Amino acid sequence: ASITVLAPATVANMVCGFDVLGFALATPADTMHLRLTTEPGVTILNEDDYHLPTEPSRNVAGAALLALLRAAPAGTGIEVRINKAIKPGSGIGSSAASAAGAVVGANALLGNMFSREDLVRFAMFGEEVASGVQHADNIAPAIYGGITLIRATQPTLDIVTLPAPALHVTVVHPQIEIKTSDARQILKKDVLLQDAIRQWGNVGGLVAGLCKGDYDLIGRSLEDVIVEPVRSILIPGFVAVKEQSRLAGALGGGISGSGPSIFMLSRTEATAQAVAAAMRHVYTGLGLDFHTYVTTI
Ligand code: HSE
Repeated sequence: ASITVLAPATVANMVCGFDVLGFALATPADTMHLRLTTEPGVTILNEDDYHLPTEPSRNVAGAALLALLRAAPAGTGIEVRINKAIKPGSGIGSSAASAAGAVVGANALLGNMFSREDLVRFAMFGEEVASGVQHADNIAPAIYGGITLIRATQPTLDIVTLPAPALHVTVVHPQIEIKTSDARQILKKDVLLQDAIRQWGNVGGLVAGLCKGDYDLIGRSLEDVIVEPVRSILIPGFVAVKEQSRLAGALGGGISGSGPSIFMLSRTEATAQAVAAAMRHVYTGLGLDFHTYVTTI
């Protein structure tokens, strides 16, 4: 038996929801082919040019599959061929796509013996290989689709899927590299109460805005007073991109995951295209290579 999986890019944090909110993008997506093998264990084959490790324990998809195999019938063997369209290190969930796609494909080959929560847990081992921490805010939307809230990861995973009105997404990926582990290291360990109050007001406002389809509330709530002030310094042109995108009509946005990509949400595709043009203008002016995507949630 064999199966082909499309594993989507994702945007973690959704500005104010550090480590708890995330959403899946319609494009780009990695393509993965999986099959059961008679030889037990995990075999990784890369079909792209990223030269990612093929040793299962050092590969994001491999680590996720090893976690799944620990809970699968003894002697199970899985081969995965990976063709990545999501550039590693871009900040749109490249590692999560590999980990999520691998366990979703393996589960289908094994007759869907695992729940979606189980799959998120397995895939989190892949995230740990990539970033040193088991965050689920890219994994959960990659597996569930749409927008997800990870209300808690301990003692049990509590994943909530959120409704949303039509939202168009513009992403710009400036061609610099920011490691998630570095982007986490620079964060302050303590939060001022006054900042926490502002932040949970925004998280509540964003969730309510999504549920009610209230675009203005969504836009007002896309504010991060805790993480963005620290991380945005690593991203050239960040302030200009935000300002120009708002002027072009975006509801709001911010750093995608740990960066360097920046995303903006808009009500219509025409606005999302205008936002892409504004982003291109900023980065062309800075003389920095970049890539833009216009897509939907
Ligand atoms: N929530 C994680 C972070 C996502 O911001 O570090 C990393 O993609």
